[in-house]
Amino acid sequence: MILSPSLLSADFGNLQATLEQLKISGISWVHWDVMDGSFVPNITFGQHVIRQLRKISSLFFDVHLMIDDPGRYIADFRDAGADMLVIHAEADTHIQRTLSEIRRCGMKAGLAFNPATPTECLDYLRDDLDMVLIMSVNPGFGGQKFIPATYGKIQRVREQLAGTDCLIEVDGGVTPENAGDLVRSGTDVLVSGSAFFNHPPFDTRLKAFENACL
Ligand code: DX5
Ligand code: ZN
Repeated sequence: MILSPSLLSADFGNLQATLEQLKISGISWVHWDVMDGSFVPNITFGQHVIRQLRKISSLFFDVHLMIDDPGRYIADFRDAGADMLVIHAEADTHIQRTLSEIRRCGMKAGLAFNPATPTECLDYLRDDLDMVLIMSVNPGFGGQKFIPATYGKIQRVREQLAGTDCLIEVDGGVTPENAGDLVRSGTDVLVSGSAFFNHPPFDTRLKAFENACL
């Protein structure tokens, strides 16, 4: 299990210190929620903020684009230092082209699905993907309640991806209480915002998530 803490619940005034603290606490991935105020009803930060923090952090940057028509910004996020770039299936008319372009730019390619979006398109995208992100809340805000139908969706996606190395990430309302069931259902990467950052210190909280998955 990989824990990818979502900076949406971190102190935006102290991101450098937060990233340094995550690193020394044993965290390897960090999740950036980019929101444009159109695809989702909230605005966060963009490529320029990520670029500044890339200079001081060697963590794996897992960048979740909640923006319309994400194909417009692939080179920008590559230049900013994203390692994994995740686009939304609902936000792009030409998903396969955008995913190929992400890989061509040297990043890992991820595809996210909102809770009510079916995943049939994965049958045609198996060879173009490094990760599938299953949203377990409707995107836009931290601190929302986990949607239980997610478990069935994870199992279906796991079947669709059989025989590939593609990771499954779950995002939204993830806590130490549901982490074990999520991993047993087939999740590789857990995103946690409020349930991680509201319970310092980071190393103890990471242990709580890890112990829940034993
Ligand atoms: C929601 C974001 C999530 C969010 C998770 O739109 O994509 O990454 O920060 O936050 P929690 O863990 O608080 O639900
Ligand atoms: Zn996210």
